[in-house]
Amino acid sequence: MALGKRHLALLVLAAVVLYLVRSIDFSSPAEGRFRNYAPKDPAYTAAVVYLVSVLPGPRNPDKLLGSLPLMQKNIPWREQWPVLLLHAGAYDTLESRSEFLDRLRISAEGQNLTPDDTEKLLKRIEFVPTRHELPPGIPADGVADGPIWDGEWPAYHHVCAFFSYKIFSHPRIKDLTYFFRLDDDSYITKPACFDPFEYMHVHNQSYAFRHEDPDMGWVTDGMWPFVSNYAQRHPEVESRLDRNGWEWPPHRFWPNNFGEAENFRSYETNFDLVKVSRFRTPEMTAFLDELASDPKRFYWYRWGDAPVRLAQVYMFLDVEKEVHDMCEISYAHKDYVWPDCECVPLVE
Ligand SMILES: *[C@@H]1O[C@H](CO)[C@@H](O)[C@H](O)[C@H]1NC(C)=O
Repeated sequence: MALGKRHLALLVLAAVVLYLVRSIDFSSPAEGRFRNYAPKDPAYTAAVVYLVSVLPGPRNPDKLLGSLPLMQKNIPWREQWPVLLLHAGAYDTLESRSEFLDRLRISAEGQNLTPDDTEKLLKRIEFVPTRHELPPGIPADGVADGPIWDGEWPAYHHVCAFFSYKIFSHPRIKDLTYFFRLDDDSYITKPACFDPFEYMHVHNQSYAFRHEDPDMGWVTDGMWPFVSNYAQRHPEVESRLDRNGWEWPPHRFWPNNFGEAENFRSYETNFDLVKVSRFRTPEMTAFLDELASDPKRFYWYRWGDAPVRLAQVYMFLDVEKEVHDMCEISYAHKDYVWPDCECVPLVE
């Protein structure tokens, strides 16, 4: 009988323990490890960003119409964050916008999106007028001065300046937690296993890229000395570069020609996933102001946002802790399919 009582006591104890464990599981999912992973977590905001035109007038949307449905279809979006189409006049009229959306619907159907996904995609589209002015000191006929690269002057140069620094003060973007830039020739080629914004949030990342590739020395003229001088004047930048394993070309402290014709490491920013606040810190802002202070860097030397982004990341972020190579997402830029890695779903 004593044994029976002890059994009973054990059973009651087990039941109580089980009840407590279950009640912890059910009553407070918001207190555990996944505190920041509740379904409708308002802890962040985000947008996908396409810069679709930088000069006034219409722009052929054919490629964009190919890119958007794949982005919708192949990413398991946890939230249907807006897709911002930044344009410099191409979609100023109601007619041009509704024509675009009609064509997008056809393209989405052509790419076998479900009717539900097609509607979601159309609802996400937000046309955002964004003008690009030549900065003071750069004349409208500046191309006549023979800039280093005069192809698509000044449209291409506007793009580089915009993504290098202006985007961080764009009124529609500056207060977002994250933006995810894609270009009209960016293709999410296969189903991904997570929402990239959710990845950034869950893993507390500040920057994600898809591919690194050097930019040629002739379009980064002056960039090595610029970064080097900045680091010398800002010891905390110098030591962060060191910690991030930054390497300089030879002869950093020789008086002349440091870094001349040397390639500069670059992130291919046609896939550019950014935690905005990390690029709006006072120290980053001071750097961006200095970067912008000589507009010839973009409008004559044709510095690109790709090497600039990599420099920003290495100068101001902790690369090991904050930066992710998002090879889990199958991706092609133009015809070039970048190598993938295994996609591990985020823990629910
Ligand atoms: C998240 O990362 C930031 C750097 O961006 C860091 O300051 C912060 O402490 C991290 N938070 C957690 C919970 O690890």
